[in-house]
Amino acid sequence: MCGIFGYVSKTPRTAKETLESLRVLEYRGYDSWGVTVRSNKTFLVEKASGKIGSSIVTLPDSTISLGHTRWATHGGVTKENSHPHLSCDNSLSLVHNGIVENYQLLVKNLSKSHHFRSQTDTEVIIHMIEEEVGSHTLKDAVRKVFSKLEGLNAIAVGSGNGEIVVAKNGSPLVLGEGEDVFYLSSDATAILPHTKRVIFLDDGQLATLGKDGIKIFDLKSGNFIRKKLITLDWSVLDNDLGKYPHYLLKEIYEQPKVIRNVANTLVSEAKILATAVEKAKGTFLIGSGTASYACLAATYLFSKIDRHVNTSFASEFVYLEKFLTKKSLVIALSQSGETIDVVEPLNFAKKSGVRIASIVNALGSTIYRMGDIKILLGAGPELAVASTKAYTAKIAFLLLLTFTLANKVKDAQNLLFQAAGEIERILESSNLKKLKNIAKVLASKEHIYTIGRGVTYALALETAMKIKEVSYIHTEGFAGGELKHGTIALIDKGSPCIVFAPNDETYQAIISNATEIRSRGGLIIGIGPTKADVFDHWIEVKDIQEASLIPLVVPAQILGYYLALEKGYDPDKPRNLAKSVTVK
Ligand code: F6R
Repeated sequence: MCGIFGYVSKTPRTAKETLESLRVLEYRGYDSWGVTVRSNKTFLVEKASGKIGSSIVTLPDSTISLGHTRWATHGGVTKENSHPHLSCDNSLSLVHNGIVENYQLLVKNLSKSHHFRSQTDTEVIIHMIEEEVGSHTLKDAVRKVFSKLEGLNAIAVGSGNGEIVVAKNGSPLVLGEGEDVFYLSSDATAILPHTKRVIFLDDGQLATLGKDGIKIFDLKSGNFIRKKLITLDWSVLDNDLGKYPHYLLKEIYEQPKVIRNVANTLVSEAKILATAVEKAKGTFLIGSGTASYACLAATYLFSKIDRHVNTSFASEFVYLEKFLTKKSLVIALSQSGETIDVVEPLNFAKKSGVRIASIVNALGSTIYRMGDIKILLGAGPELAVASTKAYTAKIAFLLLLTFTLANKVKDAQNLLFQAAGEIERILESSNLKKLKNIAKVLASKEHIYTIGRGVTYALALETAMKIKEVSYIHTEGFAGGELKHGTIALIDKGSPCIVFAPNDETYQAIISNATEIRSRGGLIIGIGPTKADVFDHWIEVKDIQEASLIPLVVPAQILGYYLALEKGYDPDKPRNLAKSVTVK
């Protein structure tokens, strides 16, 4: 959460470059933004609350710049609380991602001698560094101060002397080397337009960026660490909206390509993981939000091949991790590879000698690096906050995995190719028109229910998440059999319920559940291969056996998208959310 960006250059560059990079990082937090540049040994700042939108910066060209997009934690969403923050004499600037848990205590020590201009947990860091720079180099001042900060933090400090020092513990930081210019960013996607040569900083490391290039040190000892640059093969074009009005729509449309890519390129990864699952005594899948629903779906996919796996929200796994043994396997699913709720149990697993498999979308991310087995989904940058293509990529890979365990790789590939084709069919204009009309009906509702059974129960939860997070309509997913145990009391005339009715062992029972709802006045939107009498609206999704789960989610994604538009919301940046959740 929060995006940070900066550069040190041998020749002056524009502040606009920083602002443009913040636009790429804005998915990490969009409560406010700010840019600073060095001018005559001190820093000038421009900042504002709200999204960047069409804002411009009028700061002069400079050899040092830092920028920040904020997801507020401590201190309201105001211009004053936006980063960058400056030292009292303006000779130092700071951007920060994380939470300084002990900031109140630290502020107490300095509040009399330093002028605080914000209510954030962040500002104290720059005043602490200001205290130390007189008697230390900037590198050592940052080391000293960073060791006093509690919590998971990444910082970048600009100095009037022409240097940037970054340090990290928990929050991500990537460094990039261009020609005569060195970059830092929370995410490689913002560095990619400038250079593909990057270094992912590890926790407990500090780096200096200056006229001598990038140098990395151990935070505790201060010792130099030799670290190689790696070359990313992502394309800059992946960040472009192209013909699409929003990233959410673009990423929904990219799914067929992503699914085919999983089928074509991840077969050997599926084999490696299948062997690990076979060897393990106890497999645990963990993830957060949408990734957790992919984990839940996996439990049903595994059960189809008569294997039991455990799953838990990553944030709840702390209460179950005692069941891990040295023979267990933890499979972590994450788009960003940075979700702290996932990183924490993985830290525990690592310390306990438990094998970890990481299934992530972001190369070089923390969770990717933590994996003993590393699987990259290859869905390309996902920039809309609501996850779509990374979710279907995870499901596609999990399907490939379970079929690999059953010695049916070719069957899995065939099903995935069919699923990709079916998504293309669903995204044809006649279907979109239908979904748009349904969205018009749903837009005025206060509540939407979604139901499924077996693997589509997991899908009902994901559908509810997708719709509520972009439309702000309360949407709740249930196992079809559960409504009659309480929730059915909420159904009255016109209550909409999305019903997943695939052509499998759940069909008869889910249609009965839909009928129970309709008898109480509910409005039934059926999604599946067969039109049932109980459906008021029907969205056809052809039967592709186990892979049906993949195209079945697409109408729900599109409904969410149209609902956001109907209600006048930005589908890419829902309120209160951020793409990469690096706070607990
Ligand atoms: C919802 C969504 C979130 C993420 C969750 C985990 O659309 O995107 O629920 O799935 O925050 O994020 P990752 O997958 O990056 O660990």
